[in-house]
Amino acid sequence: MRVLSGIQPTGRFHWGNYFGAIRQYIDLQNEHDSYYFIANLHALTTIRDAALLRSLTHDAALDLLALGLDPNKATLYVQSDVPEVSQLTWILMTSTPMGLLERCVSFKEKKERGIAADAGLFTYPVLMAADILAYDANWVPVGQDQVQHIEVCRDLAKSFNHKFSEVFVLPEARLMADSAKVPGTDGEKMSKSYDNIISLFEEEKAARKKIMRIQTDSRPMEDAKDPETDHLYQLLKLMASPEELQEMADLYRRGGFGYGQVKKALADAAEKFFAPAREKRRELEQRPDTVADILREGAKRARVQAAAVLARAEEACGLTAPS
Ligand code: TYM
Repeated sequence: MRVLSGIQPTGRFHWGNYFGAIRQYIDLQNEHDSYYFIANLHALTTIRDAALLRSLTHDAALDLLALGLDPNKATLYVQSDVPEVSQLTWILMTSTPMGLLERCVSFKEKKERGIAADAGLFTYPVLMAADILAYDANWVPVGQDQVQHIEVCRDLAKSFNHKFSEVFVLPEARLMADSAKVPGTDGEKMSKSYDNIISLFEEEKAARKKIMRIQTDSRPMEDAKDPETDHLYQLLKLMASPEELQEMADLYRRGGFGYGQVKKALADAAEKFFAPAREKRRELEQRPDTVADILREGAKRARVQAAAVLARAEEACGLTAPS
């Protein structure tokens, strides 16, 4: 299977990014031909500071490598290093119905919250479709919030294949059963734009402070509770060992416990879980040239794939002569 996914470099990655998407990238790289990229063209719809975008792009690469993305197994690259994707975006855009984009939740939400909508934000799913189709990807590991965009991608691919010829492979979204929508510190979906995130590379003390402030319900502490409906427990489930979890689940069902106890267990589990990646990141920070080489090499490999698909699409729709 060909696996592909992208992630925006809009700041440090958070638990939602990791448990919804990055963990899948790392699992899938062992068995499949995998392409992962840093979506700096998408980030350009929100970041308008050149130095910041450059440094966040570099940081994103460091983060992914520290978390276990292995450049000997997967191809890691920066989106804008493959210009063929932008060329393919235009071809797809020429037959993208406005209504399809108007229905996209992420656009609707941003617009409702008063974020000025420019054409880049509106056409964002078309670029995302080109990202996927340019590599003949079969599987796209993502969190729940990206599923609609992958549906748009499939629609655009089907419609092109129908109008011209079978150029594009239809991709499928891959979700993690337990963590397609990781809750944030307020219980809503963890998202940088909701200001409810806990970053993966937060220092222990800062992370602990945020964890201790996670909102909880106000039911009396003596009441027994169903752990499965509690977002604190959902977070713990992502990181704790089976024994720790069993112990905590029993405590919930018995009642008479304090949320402080769960938060402490969560903070300990998170520290244990992410400390090795933090350490690895510190090592990588000393080797910026290595990271640059990995990205250059990745882009070279990615371009070969994207160029082949672009050539197929251009020929099919009459931009180039038949080969
Ligand atoms: P982005 O950068 O917002 O998020 C990166 C990945 O993290 C997942 N994610 C979550 N999963 C579970 N729970 C959460 N709370 C949570 N928050 C974020 C996202 O679903 C995503 O998988 N448009 C994409 C980037 C992109 C892309 C692509 C992805 C561009 N081109 C092609 C796949 C294929 C985005 O903004 O993701």
